[in-house]
Amino acid sequence: MRYSAQKGTRDILPSEIHNWQKAEKTFAEVCHSFGYEEIRIPTFEQTDLFQRGVGDTTDVVTKEMYTFEDKGGRSITLRPEGTAGVVRSFIENGMTSLATPVRLFYNITAFRYEKMQKGRMREFHQFGLESFGSAGPDIDAEIISVVDVFFKKMGLKNIALHINSIGCPACRGEYNKLLKDHFRPHIETMCEDCRTRLEKNPLRILDCKIDGGRDIVQNAPRLIDHLCEDCKAHFEGLKARLDAIGISYTIDPNIVRGLDYYTRTVFEFVSENVGTQGTICGGGRYDGLVEDCGGTATPGIGFAMGVERLLLEAEAQGALTEAPSYVKLYIASMSEQAKIEALKICYGLRLNGIGCETDMAGRSFKAQMKYAGKKGIPYLVVIGDDELASGEVKIKNMADGSEEPIKLDVIGEYLADKI
Ligand code: HAM
Repeated sequence: MRYSAQKGTRDILPSEIHNWQKAEKTFAEVCHSFGYEEIRIPTFEQTDLFQRGVGDTTDVVTKEMYTFEDKGGRSITLRPEGTAGVVRSFIENGMTSLATPVRLFYNITAFRYEKMQKGRMREFHQFGLESFGSAGPDIDAEIISVVDVFFKKMGLKNIALHINSIGCPACRGEYNKLLKDHFRPHIETMCEDCRTRLEKNPLRILDCKIDGGRDIVQNAPRLIDHLCEDCKAHFEGLKARLDAIGISYTIDPNIVRGLDYYTRTVFEFVSENVGTQGTICGGGRYDGLVEDCGGTATPGIGFAMGVERLLLEAEAQGALTEAPSYVKLYIASMSEQAKIEALKICYGLRLNGIGCETDMAGRSFKAQMKYAGKKGIPYLVVIGDDELASGEVKIKNMADGSEEPIKLDVIGEYLADKI
């Protein structure tokens, strides 16, 4: 074969697309029911937005971005995630003046130069949302319940929710000192990235793909034990709201998330079915990001869900569905004139929203019947000279073999009742 899809990319084929469409439609419906509106952002942004927004000590920025110089000499990056672009758009389009919270959702492709694994692609899809302007834990609980409701509507069960708080810059300052003191005596034994992280951003060491599993990392001081009073109250507020709604969760002090913008609440929905990392959906609060990107200080919170991982989970839980049949009727023709009549009837049916097909390949009558059977088309009509003369045909229900006489000009009404 001359060409193949690039490593880490894949085609989404017609045989599976209905499950993608169902997920997309369900996500949009659930978001709308919470008052979220869809936003579509560009696929690429200036590189600096991600360096500043996502953070220049994160793996995403230092190792995984698709960055290139365009013909105008600008440094451009294919979005590795959606939050930074949505924040840029929020500021640029003056959404700061809208009534709060400003609730936005999206359905995007994202690009990360990662090692291919189950559930880990270089081009992947995310459903996500961002909410701006609400600082209290109500909105934290709201966005978590968006995911919960969405999973339920998708027929998914038992996807564990893990929550944590990683504090604000005030409590993190003190905590960073503790972390540095903890790691400094061992830093020579740690990977090169961790050595850089120690001074620049020690929190990132907790997220290291190389050293993350070691005792020295596992036994590090936990930010949740060093929160300031306000952050503690915020986290207690979130827990109380989740308890009231009835969403169960585990407090997981190890969640730090791989992106720098987070403050206070962070959360992940995890499952063993979706690959080694197991995270289907991750998100959290980012109260400093809008200001960091040049806007007026505005609290924000959001999440993104990997659609490939979501569908792996759906497959593992037996929640994928059979492809629907869009074409309801096949009109087989026995002569040239019947073929022209079939074309005409099909045109009228399609105008009325009824999917139908007739021969396009010059097949013999027998081959047309075979084709309709193979495609699983539920109704069949045969037009020959007799039918043309009488204006009446027999419509066959392929599931039970039964036939009914019907006038050619009322096939549409007949099928509309059946579909
Ligand atoms: P993230 O944790 O980097 O967060 O990605 C969110 C989800 O995208 C992951 O949980 C995973 O399901 C999926 N994902 C990430 N990388 C890949 C990959 N290489 N292949 C397949 N799926 C992947 C964010 O992107 C944040 N922007 C989420 C957020 C929104 N936080 C606040 N607002």
